[in-house]
Amino acid sequence: MTKPNLRHADVVIRSAHLIDGTGSPATYGDVAIINDKIIAIGDLSEVIGSREIEANARALAPGFIDVHTHDDRAVLSDPIMACKISQGVTTVITGNCGISLAPLTSKFLPPPLDLIADRPESLFPDFFAYLNALDNDPPAVNVAAQVGHSTLRIGAMDNLERPATGEEIKSMRHQLDHALEAGAIGMSTGLYYEPASAAPTSEVIELLKSIRDARGIHTTHMRNEGDHIKQSLEESFRIGRDANVPIVISHHKVGGISNHGRSRETLRMIDEASNYQAIAFDVYPYVASSTVLGVKRLETASRIVVTWSKPHPEMSGRDLSHISEELGCDLITAAQTLAPAGAIYFMMSEDDVQRILSHPKAMIGSDGLPHDDHPHPRLWGTFPRVLGHYARENGLFTLEEAVRRMTSLPAAQFGLMERGKLNVGSYADLVLFNQKTVIDRATFEAPTRAAEGIDLVMVNGRTVWENGAATGARPGLALRRQSLGQMGSNTTSGC
Ligand code: ZN
Ligand code: CU
Repeated sequence: MTKPNLRHADVVIRSAHLIDGTGSPATYGDVAIINDKIIAIGDLSEVIGSREIEANARALAPGFIDVHTHDDRAVLSDPIMACKISQGVTTVITGNCGISLAPLTSKFLPPPLDLIADRPESLFPDFFAYLNALDNDPPAVNVAAQVGHSTLRIGAMDNLERPATGEEIKSMRHQLDHALEAGAIGMSTGLYYEPASAAPTSEVIELLKSIRDARGIHTTHMRNEGDHIKQSLEESFRIGRDANVPIVISHHKVGGISNHGRSRETLRMIDEASNYQAIAFDVYPYVASSTVLGVKRLETASRIVVTWSKPHPEMSGRDLSHISEELGCDLITAAQTLAPAGAIYFMMSEDDVQRILSHPKAMIGSDGLPHDDHPHPRLWGTFPRVLGHYARENGLFTLEEAVRRMTSLPAAQFGLMERGKLNVGSYADLVLFNQKTVIDRATFEAPTRAAEGIDLVMVNGRTVWENGAATGARPGLALRRQSLGQMGSNTTSGC
């Protein structure tokens, strides 16, 4: 695969265990890079690199794509993005769970919008402005951004506790069309959350007509991930079918002890529906979820850890049960005392997590919350945990298969052309890692520890992470819908 006249490259990575992202068995070889692209792969002993990197049989893979993030503001406020590049992540999808920073001007930030916006000034009146801000002050990672349905509702409606009227839907579609024109890749919903829970199925379908026309994508934090998960899946399938858009079920899980084991049923439903429509899903590798601290979530969890609290920041990292004992009140009163706040909820079973991760369609998404004082460890640990804990130690799947779920599979789903595979001509988004030692180090007690074994990370040909530290380079691009390929082609085959 070497061009006959290629003698010189910017970077040559030598003697690597090449995991190409398709799921195929690893091969052995060198990779050459010029500017932002992979220019040759194979035996490149004839080629001299301005920089030579000796891989010593360590693994070289396409950079990981974090399909489910809430990095909307973090990519601007903390553009080095150490929490992600330290895991080998080179592209993040933002605007999930119904919330995005644009298009919106609002004086109030109802939960869960407060997970990404700390004050009204962090919002953007339109998507052009948001993407331009990324162009002007780029982060270390590439960003593809969705519009949040709740964000649209907050902007268009005076009362969120009812379905949108015809006029309001019209005004939301106008905003959505404008955002798609600017380069948004799709629309997410968070029907579970208050700003959108009164929205009927028909409201979502109406809005998604804009997504269909723009050939975008729809991701959903479903109305229910517990007792009513079956109905919620059916609703999501109907939305995808009636609007004729590809859908992604976000952070697929079954919550609550009485529902443990039901991933058998939900995965069967997803398989069945996949015969008729484009359906994908993502998952994070933990038995605990994390979101805002709310009364209706308290019963579903066996343990609750506070991640942030506006009135009581000193409570971050502590168990809600200990706090309630100390205050001499019940859990509900304790939660109300801490609000607005966030929490980690232990509410899934390990069997379900493993069953969902094992499904060939499972993409990996961290769902990390980058602004939390004491975040869920998924923010810093998701990808190395899948590679080290679930692939190497647990043998849930091969390392090649683990990488496929983080690279070519999401790239096909989100239309990220020339990313997600080690191909000549692809962007040099790369991660060099030690397949024998890679492991997450972030825990529920110490959640911001960087992973081990991620040795070098490159985004668009520039090194962003090396020797356990960020280099400071910020070569990330705002990936606009117009530059992407067809979305929704998440296939279960290797390539
Ligand atoms: Zn969510
Ligand atoms: Cu989320």
